[in-house]
Amino acid sequence: MDTLEKIINTADFLRAKGFIAPEAGIILGTGLGGLTREIENAIEVNYADIPGFPVSTVRSHAGKLIYGDFGGRKIVAMSGRFHYYEGYGAEQIAFPVRVMTELGIKALFLSNASGGTNPAFSIGDIMIITDHINLLPNPLMGPNDDCIGPRFPDMSEPYDKKLIAKADAIAARLGIPVQHGIYLSTTGPTFETPAEYRHFRIMGADAVGMSTTPEVIIARHRHIPCFAFSIITDLGVDGKIQYITEEFVQKAAAESEVLMTRIMKELIATF
Ligand code: HPA
Repeated sequence: MDTLEKIINTADFLRAKGFIAPEAGIILGTGLGGLTREIENAIEVNYADIPGFPVSTVRSHAGKLIYGDFGGRKIVAMSGRFHYYEGYGAEQIAFPVRVMTELGIKALFLSNASGGTNPAFSIGDIMIITDHINLLPNPLMGPNDDCIGPRFPDMSEPYDKKLIAKADAIAARLGIPVQHGIYLSTTGPTFETPAEYRHFRIMGADAVGMSTTPEVIIARHRHIPCFAFSIITDLGVDGKIQYITEEFVQKAAAESEVLMTRIMKELIATF
């Protein structure tokens, strides 16, 4: 079966389960899955039960696709995402996003946890991603299906400027401080050495993490506007680098999640 046929089959399977015409797609990062508790009239399907879906292996990720109402809109949310460090290939990482676009989402909203390399940042900061540096394997490598998108996709506006302006206005109205910055993705699974954090800072990164850019690339291939938050869970700044664990990252992410979710909800309600 070719890729597009496989995508359509899975979208049909999900429609039969009630995933009808979602307007927004949501992909949540480490320690940030709590947003899913606010989804009303939820229909949940485990990844393991969705034809063609890879299965998530990271403990902190639930691994289910959720359809329902959020911010008064029909949404489809991935609770748990797929990372290169888990051993998935480009096709597997691309597939769920392609299925969401096939279901008809009009925009993709993402979140992740990251290490801040900008010395002005603090742990717990909510950063709106304005651009990215993708140092992960590009998920569009390999044969291109022209029915999905162009061979050489434009990346001049990876994160939608109108959505960013809207999120800024919402955050200001709610009195929630936000940072702006460039997100750089690496494969992980190691966190960075001090020299690597410094290297990424010199390259232009404000934050470094292990996700998001592949999903954004796949969505932009189909011209879907993207918006992403990164929660700064640790600092890759000389003098502020400390021993970090997955639990440390989760705890720091959870503390900012409530505020991030408030902005996300209003953004989705009004985009
Ligand atoms: N580096 C990479 N990924 C991360 C980090 C980090 O410091 N923190 C959370 N995810």
